[in-house]
Amino acid sequence: MLNVCVIGCGRAGRIHAKSYAGGVTGARLLAVCDPSEEARASAAADFGAARTFADWHDALADPDIDAVVVVTPTGLHRDIVVAAAAAGKHVFCEKPMASSEAECDEMIAACEQAGVKLQIGFMRRFEESVQHAKEAIDAGEIGDVVLVKSLTHGPSHPKEWMYDVRKSFGPIGEVSSHDFDLLRWFAGSEVKSVYAVGGNFRSPEVAAEWPEWYDTFAMTLTFDNGVLGMVDGAQYVQYGYDFRFEVLGTRGSILVGQQPRETYTVATADGRIRRPMNNSWTYLFREAYIREAQAFVDAVAQNTETRVTGHDGKMAVRLVNMGLESLLGHSVVFGS
Ligand SMILES: NC(=O)c1ccc[n+]([C@@H]2O[C@H](COP(=O)([O-])OP(=O)(O)OC[C@H]3O[C@@H](n4cnc5c(N)ncnc54)[C@H](O)[C@@H]3O)[C@@H](O)[C@H]2O)c1
Repeated sequence: MLNVCVIGCGRAGRIHAKSYAGGVTGARLLAVCDPSEEARASAAADFGAARTFADWHDALADPDIDAVVVVTPTGLHRDIVVAAAAAGKHVFCEKPMASSEAECDEMIAACEQAGVKLQIGFMRRFEESVQHAKEAIDAGEIGDVVLVKSLTHGPSHPKEWMYDVRKSFGPIGEVSSHDFDLLRWFAGSEVKSVYAVGGNFRSPEVAAEWPEWYDTFAMTLTFDNGVLGMVDGAQYVQYGYDFRFEVLGTRGSILVGQQPRETYTVATADGRIRRPMNNSWTYLFREAYIREAQAFVDAVAQNTETRVTGHDGKMAVRLVNMGLESLLGHSVVFGS
C-alpha cells in the first residue's frame, strides 16, 4: 500500500486527495499539507487523511509517506519536487511542471538520481475518448497523421495575478499546456516552430494597465516529422468549458468533441434545441484524474516508466515559453 501525501489542497489538490481516498487501488491518502489551516483541515476531514502538515518540509520528513502529489502554485513545484526526490519519495507533479526548462531539468535529474518515479499531471491522456483516438492512430486507421488541432476555452474570469503574462504566461500557460501535450503525443514528434497571435477581447478595462494581457490566442505549429498543428485557447468565454480535438490523417480523421455535459437534448415547439453545456474541467475529466492516479501507483508498484514523464512536462513548458515569445514578439519562434 503506497502512502500518499497531497501537498497543496486547493482546487486541483482536492481532486487528487479524493482519488487517493478511495478511487485508486494499491494506495491510500495518508496525509495532506497546506499552509492554509482551512484548506488542509477541510481536505483532511472530507477525504479522511490521518495526518496534516502546514509545512511541506515536515511532510517530507515523515518516513511513513511513500509518495507526494505536488499541487501547489506552479512557482513552488521545483523546490518541493527536488526535495521530495532527495527524501526518497515518489513524485506526482501537476502541470505546468515548472516555469522554465532549466527547472524541469533539475527536477528530472533529482528524481533519476534518487531512483524515484516522476509523473506529470497531463490527465487528458487518460480521458477515455482521447485514449480511443490514440489507439486508432497507432493502429493506422487514418493513415499517417497530417494535422493535429486542439482547442480549450475556459469559462472563468481571469484572476488578478494572471494579467502579468510575463509571470503567468496567460492562457497559453494556464489553459493550453494540456493541448500542447496532446499535440506532441498525437504527432509523435517534437515541435519545430510556433507562431502565435492573440488579443484582449473581453477585458478592455484592464488594457491600459496590462497592455500585454491577451484572453484569446491562435497558434500554428510545425513538428520535426512534418506534422502540422493548430491550437486556440481562450479564457473567460463564459459559455462553458470547451475542449475539442481533431486529427487529420492521410486516409481519415478523428474528432473528439467534449462540449455537452449530458447526452440528452430538449427540442421544443418553437424550433429550439437545448442541450446542457459542460461548464467545468473538474466534471469533464473526473474519470481521467482517477485513471492517471492509478497509472502513477501502478508505475511505482511495477517499477515501470510513468506514462507522462518529466520529459513530457519539460516539452510542454518549452512550448508555453515559445508560444508567449512568439505572441509578444510577433514572430515565428523555432525550437532548439
Ligand atoms: N491538471 C489540471 O487540469 C489542473 C487543473 C487546475 C490546476 N492545476 C495545477 O495545479 C496547481 C495548483 O492549482 P490550483 O488551481 O489547485 O490552485 P489553488 O490556488 O486552488 O490551490 C493551491 C493550494 O496550494 C496551497 N499552497 C500554497 N503554498 C503552499 C506551500 N508552500 N505548501 C503547500 N501548499 C501550499 C494553497 O494554500 C492552496 O490551497 C497549479 O500548478 C495548477 O496549474 C492543474
